[in-house]
Amino acid sequence: ITANNHTQFRPQLHFSPKDQWMNDPNGMVFYEGEYHLFYQYHPESTVWGPMHWGHAVSQDLVHWEHLPIALAPDEHGAIFSGSAVVDKHDTSGFFAGKSGLVAIFTHHDTIPGTDQIRQRQSLAFSMDRGRTWTKYANNPVLTEEALPDFRDPKVFWYVPGQSWVMVIAAGDYVRFYKSSNLKEWTYTGQFGLGQGSHDGVWECPDLFELPVDNDVNNTRWVLIVSIGEDINFPEGSRTQYFIGAFNGDTFVPEECPAPLLWLDHGRDNYAGVTWSDVPEQQGRRLFIGWMNNWKYANIIPTANWRGAMTLPRELTLATESEGVRLHQKPIRELEAKRRNKINRAAFELSNSEITLTDGDLFEIIVEFEIGDALDFGLKLRYSETEETVVSYGVQEQLLYMDRSRSGVTDFHEHFACKHSVVLKPENGIIKMHIFVDRSSIEVFANDGKCVVTDQIFPLSTLAEIKMYAKDGTVRVKSLTIYTLNSILLD
Ligand code: FRU
Repeated sequence: ITANNHTQFRPQLHFSPKDQWMNDPNGMVFYEGEYHLFYQYHPESTVWGPMHWGHAVSQDLVHWEHLPIALAPDEHGAIFSGSAVVDKHDTSGFFAGKSGLVAIFTHHDTIPGTDQIRQRQSLAFSMDRGRTWTKYANNPVLTEEALPDFRDPKVFWYVPGQSWVMVIAAGDYVRFYKSSNLKEWTYTGQFGLGQGSHDGVWECPDLFELPVDNDVNNTRWVLIVSIGEDINFPEGSRTQYFIGAFNGDTFVPEECPAPLLWLDHGRDNYAGVTWSDVPEQQGRRLFIGWMNNWKYANIIPTANWRGAMTLPRELTLATESEGVRLHQKPIRELEAKRRNKINRAAFELSNSEITLTDGDLFEIIVEFEIGDALDFGLKLRYSETEETVVSYGVQEQLLYMDRSRSGVTDFHEHFACKHSVVLKPENGIIKMHIFVDRSSIEVFANDGKCVVTDQIFPLSTLAEIKMYAKDGTVRVKSLTIYTLNSILLD
């Protein structure tokens, strides 16, 4: 497959590799003032192939510095997804009593003399702030011969047990292990059979504790699991989550069976996990996902690179009528990219369409007060031939994303689509916080209760923002539009 010369799709607000193929975010860890982002990388091609860990660092999660490849395939195979931790007290013995970074990842190869897949867990460590990595001499450190799909270890320090805990995908469930030194692992439990979605293989789990409604005395554990593509589902690959408790050995869902909960209701947020070791005083759980979908990831029409990450998001838990749910907000550091601010006093829109502004990169914050209009919303990256429509259907209480006329869509039969998610108004109000980049739209609705992330490939880099109301009137209670500066220009 050859890529087109579509350089206009280069993300201006999102992380993308300088060149070649990228998928999952890996090894995200904060250490000595830097956020590390590693990622599944194929340096030889713009399609998936033997996996390496690409690497970038940032001080603010917005501007990234590209670094050389951190991990390359070796005699144990390719380097699949995994995590990284700060080994503060040298539990591993890699750091002569000092602290350092340890990466825990999947080695992927085949059983010698066969074509049967084998996935085993291995370690690498760095004594120089992640700049160079040494693979552990006794890799792999965790093998389960009976499990062909056994990958994507996420490791964290579990304070009550004073041990490391690993959550790892195994076919269509997750397994838990513990260790005192990151080298020897003991199986403690499993979760997932008969719970949640099994539309595809389980991948890239994450497990962490968060306060509910900001109350540190009332916490829950969140288990994130990505679901690999099953061709029978138009959604392709997507990510679910569970709310419950972690008892030191396994995850226990709050309700049994656990309700089916999706982390993002768009088509392009996969394999996302959270940063390790973000400083306590910030108390933040920061998430990033791969803004793509295995359904078409290898054929999206970008130029010399393929793949981008979502915006980094802060995760919180809130009590809703149905139970405790995960909310997401774009990280506040993104406010530094705001350039001009357009504020509009409240106004009414009746059976009409207006142009709000035109340009390239935008952040839009709008509150709609529901009136008798049955359908209202925004047309983004609008030109004569292209538009991506984010709208609300009042009677059906659905938030829609329509990318059927968003630009280049013909590379895959399922790309052009209009999809929806249930969203209830709060006191008669629907809020939308939207980021418009060259090749994506992210909608954070009702204060991050509901998120929709979609890629788009419009041909024009400058376009209008329109707003419309149909079959009646909607009141726009507040509207702020920021033009944004590209993260690539400074
Ligand atoms: C998820 C995934 C992981 C695997 C990696 C391989 O997108 O399939 O399970 O480790 O990608 O690149």
